[in-house]
This record gives sequence, C-alpha cells and structure tokens, in this order.
Amino acid sequence: MKKLKVALLANAKENAPQSDDLAVDQWADLDSSKTIQSLVDAIKAGGHDSEFLEGDISLINSLQRYRPDICFNICEGHFGDGREAQVPAILEMMQIPYTGSKVLSLALALDKSMTKRILHWHELPTPNFQTFERVNEPLQDDMTFPLFVKPSREGTGMGVSSKSIVHNEIEMRTQIEHIFQRYKQPALVERYIEGREVTVGMVGNLLGPVARRVPHDPELPRMQAGLRFFPPMEVDLSPFQDSDVVYSNRLKVDLADKLTYLCPAPLDDDMIDELNWLAAAAFRVTGALDVSRVDFRLDANDDFKPYILEINPLPGLSIGISDIVIEAAADGLDHTQLVNLILDTALIRYGMKSIS
Ligand SMILES: Nc1ncnc2c1ncn2[C@@H]1O[C@H](COP(=O)(O)OP(=O)(O)O)[C@@H](O)[C@H]1O
Ligand SMILES: [Mg+2]
Repeated sequence: MKKLKVALLANAKENAPQSDDLAVDQWADLDSSKTIQSLVDAIKAGGHDSEFLEGDISLINSLQRYRPDICFNICEGHFGDGREAQVPAILEMMQIPYTGSKVLSLALALDKSMTKRILHWHELPTPNFQTFERVNEPLQDDMTFPLFVKPSREGTGMGVSSKSIVHNEIEMRTQIEHIFQRYKQPALVERYIEGREVTVGMVGNLLGPVARRVPHDPELPRMQAGLRFFPPMEVDLSPFQDSDVVYSNRLKVDLADKLTYLCPAPLDDDMIDELNWLAAAAFRVTGALDVSRVDFRLDANDDFKPYILEINPLPGLSIGISDIVIEAAADGLDHTQLVNLILDTALIRYGMKSIS
C-alpha cells in the first residue's frame, strides 16, 4: 500500500488553555505528550508518514500546511457542549477523511442523557434516569434511592466519587448543586447499580440501519458482523471496597497503577455474548464508526443483569493505562497493532484500502 500522510489530531494536556475559573480536573481527559508521541510512532511503524497537529483553532492552518491523506482523530475538544465534534466538523468542511465516529455521534455520546434517551427508545438496558437542569426540580416517582449523580457531559470519571452515590433527597440535591457549580452543566441522576464493572472494546464497522429498532427476536441471527470484540475487562474494585465503590477520576488517574484489571474478565460465554451484543447495539444506535468502548455495570441484585452506562466513541489510547489498550493486548494486539487496526478500518470505510 502507498505510504500515506496521517495527521494525528489530539488535544495535548500541555497545550490546554488555562484560567482561574476552570475546575481542577477540567483537562483530565486530554492526552499526555507521551501518548501523543506513541500514536505518531505507531502510525509510522505502520508504514506511514505522521505528524501531530493540535486540535484547536490553529488546526485549519496546520492542515493546509501538512495536507494529510487522512487524520487519526482523538480530539476531546476544549469548550462547548459539542466539543468532541468540533474537529470532525472542520474536517468535514475541508473534506479530509478521519478515523472514528463523525460529528453527530461524537456530540451525542458526549451527552450521556441524550444517549440514554436513544438507548431507551431502542429498549436497550440502561439505568433509569432523570436529568436535572435546576436543583429544585421534583424527583420523578420512578426514581428510588440509592441514586447516582454525575455530570451529564464529562468523561474519565470526572465529577464521580463515592459522594456520587446518594441515599436521600438532601444528599442528592447537594451533589446536583456541586455538579452545577463545578462543571456548569446539567446533572444526570441514575439508579445506582451495585455490582461488577465491565467494559467491552471493539474495532470495526456494522452495516445496518441506525434508525430502525434493534430486532428482539431471539431466533434471528444477532447483527454484529463486521465488529471485532476484544475480551471484556473488569476493574477489580474490591481492594477499595468499603461498601460503595465507583471508578472515579481519582481511581482512573491517580491510582491507575494500583488497580487490578481482570482481562479477560471472569465471565461465562453466555454473558460475554450478551455484552458483545449490547455493545454492538449501542454502537449501532449511536451511529459509531471504527472503534468504541461500552461501559457496563452488572446488577448484583438482579442476577448480574447488564446495564449500559455509556458508549465511548473516542476511547483513551494510552499505553498500559487505557482500557481498550489492555483489552486489545489480551487479544494479542500490541499498541501499534491496535492503532493501525483502527486506521485500516477507517481507510477501508473510505475505500482508501482494500480488505486484505
Ligand atoms: N448508575 C450507576 N450505578 C453505579 N455506578 C455508576 C453509575 N454510573 C456511573 N457509575 C460509576 O461511575 C463511573 C464513571 O461513570 P461513567 O458513566 O462510565 O462516566 P465516565 O467514564 O465518562 O466518567 C463508572 O465506571 C461507575 O463506576
Ligand atoms: Mg465510563
């Protein structure tokens, strides 16, 4: 295959805008220079030319200078409720191909409440929920404690701690207020699912109508052809188990080296099949492309029934840290191979590479 120019588009932590009124963890989901360099190296190891371009307003100029054939996009964006969709919108305007999901899917998946409305419409299992835009909105009758309060548009465990689990209205409203103040966005309140924490990563593409309901008929073959599922990973939260534990930003970032990841997670084949199917369904109904990771909780009080917490169409790709990197490794793919698999998936989708 011809050597391509592949621009690695990311938002480096060190380039992030600074100001006094930002939350301390405001840039927790941006990428380190080490991760960015490792991605550039991986793309080069795949036989291409690669250069990192910062995904801010300088991007239009740098794209005109570098003139990539395709972009490998991992930009999380800085500001605004569609921030993960901004760079793809620029790329669409400039007619430059890019890896991963497009504008609508990225803006959607960043908004957990919107995503849940879609999952719910498709009758996919996601914890019952209510979105609060004001602190004094009445609690719906179908919402029973304990509940879980989180920001509706953040990632990487931001705004999530043991205080997110609330047992009464006073605790709930205190936490909602905290989300408003710190993250300046609506709060998502969900039924608290006590149980194991499992995530499924996949690379590939599904052919199938996004708008049509996912068929329920157990006799029909399940549509997941085209996706490669990695072995599910479980975060072993038991060392941190006082009673209620969540995969918070503190655990994800500060204590990453103390966490035990079970990958493949000790789950039976039927459960793995079910999780893969639900992950494929979430991928389909949100219109995701090339790569995603779907986070689940398995309800300990209901025979480990899986609930979809969210879909991450821009999963972290940090060596040795990010969930999907660990999952791919359990499937025999090192970081370089994973990155090139995602790139090749996009190239095939654009007709820039034939299926080998
Ligand atoms: N409804 C819920 N019940 C139990 N735990 C939850 C719930 N929602 C989130 N959590 C916990 O918080 C963590 C982060 O939530 P998640 O929705 O995956 O957001 P993100 O990963 O984008 O920060 C989860 O991995 C889980 O540990
Ligand atoms: Mg998550």
